[in-house]
Amino acid sequence: MLSITLFKECKVIQERIEVIFSTLDEDGRPNFAPMGVMWDGKELIVRPFRNTDTYRNLMATGCGVANVTDNVLLFTQSALSEPIFPHFDARQVRSIVLKDASYWREVVVTKVSGGDMRAEFCCRVVGQGWRRDFLGFNRAKNAVVEAAILTTRLHLHDDQVNVEAAYRRYQEIVDEIGGDQEREAMRYLRDYVRRWSVARAH
Ligand SMILES: Cc1cc2nc3c(=O)[nH]c(=O)nc-3n(C[C@H](O)[C@H](O)[C@H](O)COP(=O)(O)O)c2cc1C
Repeated sequence: MLSITLFKECKVIQERIEVIFSTLDEDGRPNFAPMGVMWDGKELIVRPFRNTDTYRNLMATGCGVANVTDNVLLFTQSALSEPIFPHFDARQVRSIVLKDASYWREVVVTKVSGGDMRAEFCCRVVGQGWRRDFLGFNRAKNAVVEAAILTTRLHLHDDQVNVEAAYRRYQEIVDEIGGDQEREAMRYLRDYVRRWSVARAH
């Protein structure tokens, strides 16, 4: 179990990027989840909701890895299910690195704070690595990430019409300039939404 001091707040860091955050649970089972993290090179802040495995694993082990990748299919899959992606052991912390990361940061938790719903883990970067160039984002990749976020928050949206309009717009962008990866990601999201809508109707 994590043993660290509880402070009121983390340092303020403006820069936010979307990563696939990887952790191990107490029994060593891998977990991958998209998280928006703030970092400034030496420090990193991750703010998982308290009902996520990422929160539980950070509390249990006190470390994780922020993986930067342009593979948006991985964002959609790990936002909505529990895939175990190909990975290898991190060097400096007891955690794992996503094989399809462009580069990554290995972090240890130094402070925990936050509110009822969401925790805030301030972390120190203790290791890093690089595997391949970051290809970059285009509008289709952005659209997939936005669609993935919307899908994780379906339960918060009363206005079905607006949600459907947003999906249609994301789909148009992907149809226009997306590649196989973005199209597969949108199919994955739309299948999920269909199942979710059916389940909600019953
Ligand atoms: C781009 C993106 C960023 C996200 N950022 C966060 C975040 O900062 N905190 C959080 O709790 N959930 C975030 N989510 C939602 C989680 O990824 C989602 O709830 C996931 O199922 C949590 O997985 P876990 O239970 O395996 O940790 C994000 C989702 C996406 C697509």
